[in-house]
Amino acid sequence: MTTEEKVSKTLPELGVTETQGVEALFAEVRAAMEGERAELISRGAPASHHERVCKALRDRWLARKNGLLARLDEHWLKAAPRELKPAVGKCFNELRRASAALELKELIRTVPVLPESPGTRPPDAARHESLQESLPFEIPGDVAQDLTLPGYRRPLGTLHPITRVQREIEDIFLGLGFWIENGPEIESVYYNFDALNIPESHPSRDDWDTLYINAQTVLRTHTSPVQIRAMEKYGAPLHIIIPGKCYRHDNPDSTHSPMFHQIEGLAIDTDITFADLKGTLDFFAKKFFGEKVRTRFQPSFFPFTEPSGEVAISCIFCGGEGCRVCKESGWIEVMGCGMVHPVVLRNGGIDPDKYSGWAFGLGVDRFAMLKYDINDIQLFFQSDVRFLEQF
Ligand code: PHE
Repeated sequence: MTTEEKVSKTLPELGVTETQGVEALFAEVRAAMEGERAELISRGAPASHHERVCKALRDRWLARKNGLLARLDEHWLKAAPRELKPAVGKCFNELRRASAALELKELIRTVPVLPESPGTRPPDAARHESLQESLPFEIPGDVAQDLTLPGYRRPLGTLHPITRVQREIEDIFLGLGFWIENGPEIESVYYNFDALNIPESHPSRDDWDTLYINAQTVLRTHTSPVQIRAMEKYGAPLHIIIPGKCYRHDNPDSTHSPMFHQIEGLAIDTDITFADLKGTLDFFAKKFFGEKVRTRFQPSFFPFTEPSGEVAISCIFCGGEGCRVCKESGWIEVMGCGMVHPVVLRNGGIDPDKYSGWAFGLGVDRFAMLKYDINDIQLFFQSDVRFLEQF
């Protein structure tokens, strides 16, 4: 039985003959009333309909003529058998006091006003219908069509900032004659480590860094395994970049995410030297970060390159003067690189006596953070439209 049906019957008709029954019945009605109010407060109402929706709920319960409380007064209190009158009177007063929260002023104050974004506003009639559907009480259907309102426009999505930056980097290398190669994210230990000359004892094989699927299979920890796959597939010469997702057993924080993105670069040809590597990466850095940017190469170590280097760019925030971002050094490290190790070439089926090559690996997420001055990598993966809309 709905609340309406109940309040149009008398207590004897409802089979209520004692104080306990009266109390239970009133408790039910009160729960219904508070439930409807809570429902409206949790939903909120759009600005253009706010007052009308609040008034609809107020009128349903409190209208002098035919409001639920008025009917309840009529059928339950006035018509109560004499012995129940005191109990009904007491319950009725309590309910009346609780119903103060449904006064129009109170509702207008407590029901959230939902923002009205003009671009997404459906025609008024449709809006009225969908509002009505979601509410347990009736809203007067007197909505006139306002033909001057903007039409219903679906919000357009845009590319995710990571995709954008990835494509921007791809474009620069495509312009230099590189092509794009892909490889699997679920990778064998052989391609991820062995073929890349990463010794059995290397710390990155440890459970703390690598997500193992089983003893022979991992989620790739970098895009470098695709170096070997591409060498096997195409042989030399080879000029490719390899974008893709990588995984590491890292706790998420503002600079770490267990899933992140890399772009690998690989150039193999006769007579490729470290000068080619420096020239290409310096050109790339200037294209991506701006012509003023300078690059710095420092010795480093990777098992799959020899010699290996760490590339830094002059700080794009202070121009190299020293600031918080570059920790007063004037430089920001952005990628690892080096000359492809002869063992790696051989593992890929390429003769290191005939060919040489360079490789680099960079973090797309980090590049995006630098380019757009974003201080928390987690923002990329939280799908918060307020963040994504800015790109
Ligand atoms: N694979 C290395 C990493 O993930 C980066 C790298 C790639 C270094 C290619 C040198 C050459 O840290």
